[in-house]
Amino acid sequence: THAYFSPGRVNLIGEHTDYNGGHVFPCAISLGTYALVAPRTDGVSRLYSMNLPEQGVVEFPMHGAVKTDAYGWANYPIGVVRMMEDAGHAAAHGFDILFYGNLPNGAGLSSSASIEVLMAVILNDELGLGIDMVELVKLAQKAENIFVGMNCGIMDQFAVGMGKKDCAILLDCNTLAYRYSKLDLKGCSIVITNTNKAHSLVTSAYNERRMQSEAALKALQKVKAIQSLGELTDAEFDENAAVIEDEVERRRARHAVYENRRTLEAVDALEKNDVKRFGALMNDSHVSLRDDYEVTGPELDTLAELAWQQEGVLGSRMTGGGFAGCTVSIVRDEAIPAFEKNVAEAYTAKIGYAPSFYVANIADGARR
Ligand code: GLA
Repeated sequence: THAYFSPGRVNLIGEHTDYNGGHVFPCAISLGTYALVAPRTDGVSRLYSMNLPEQGVVEFPMHGAVKTDAYGWANYPIGVVRMMEDAGHAAAHGFDILFYGNLPNGAGLSSSASIEVLMAVILNDELGLGIDMVELVKLAQKAENIFVGMNCGIMDQFAVGMGKKDCAILLDCNTLAYRYSKLDLKGCSIVITNTNKAHSLVTSAYNERRMQSEAALKALQKVKAIQSLGELTDAEFDENAAVIEDEVERRRARHAVYENRRTLEAVDALEKNDVKRFGALMNDSHVSLRDDYEVTGPELDTLAELAWQQEGVLGSRMTGGGFAGCTVSIVRDEAIPAFEKNVAEAYTAKIGYAPSFYVANIADGARR
């Protein structure tokens, strides 16, 4: 048997910009998904998750697998098998795979991208396919788009596959050009706070945001020769925004354009050791996601607002797709205990249940 690991990710800034052709700035974290893999001689695979024992062993054929409700969580790795096959990398035999994850599920830390990229790495390695990581990342995203039916961008799979210890990744989602930026937070840490809100209807709301952004792009294309919203400056957007007739679509597009600029500005600030400016841009990002993109909700807003009031917090915002899931905050190390205590108390009093905290370790991407 061989052991594999694939991380989750936290996005520091650049939210809902990936499918709008903008930039993102995520990093892989040390929480993630583990797998033990043993090859079989027949054409069947059997998967078991230690996190979901009630679902038992999921068995499926390595050729022509289709999405089935009964597969449950296993649709993510099975989707990867199918996308690999469709890309010409059919497996000659199956595997027995035991999964264990320590990422909170559905918390916006990419538990799905983590298991997808993990499966892609397993197949690549076990079958000796020699596919490079960026291609595996694209196949994993395809599994989520086509097989699972969530129309996500490339950020999560990219961060999970290409992550590097102590670095965030500045990725141009238009070209997939990327570079690593060493994270030196000057005595601060990245604190992830989970709303612990149950995830539901997130996929439909996400796909709807995507459609609204695309409609806004179509309107702008009548007056601007652009392929994506990520190509516009704030000023170019403001000058032309009136061609977007629908007020909601106009706000969606404004978020995408401004957030892309904020992301580039934030990376620049961080690389000039201006963590304070970086944090202020994170706060602006949250406000824009709340008011223009409308993907926050009372739980995420409460966490962000509470964080902004705490001593030693440089910035705080929702991270990931939104609606539920987590915030990400930059907190001075000595202020973390008081931060956790105060935020937990006030959040619980207002929302009715407690949040959870994780101090993030920035880790390497998926690997054997
Ligand atoms: C989800 C998607 C990503 C990205 C974020 C929002 O995590 O999977 O592709 O769009 O939401 O930034």
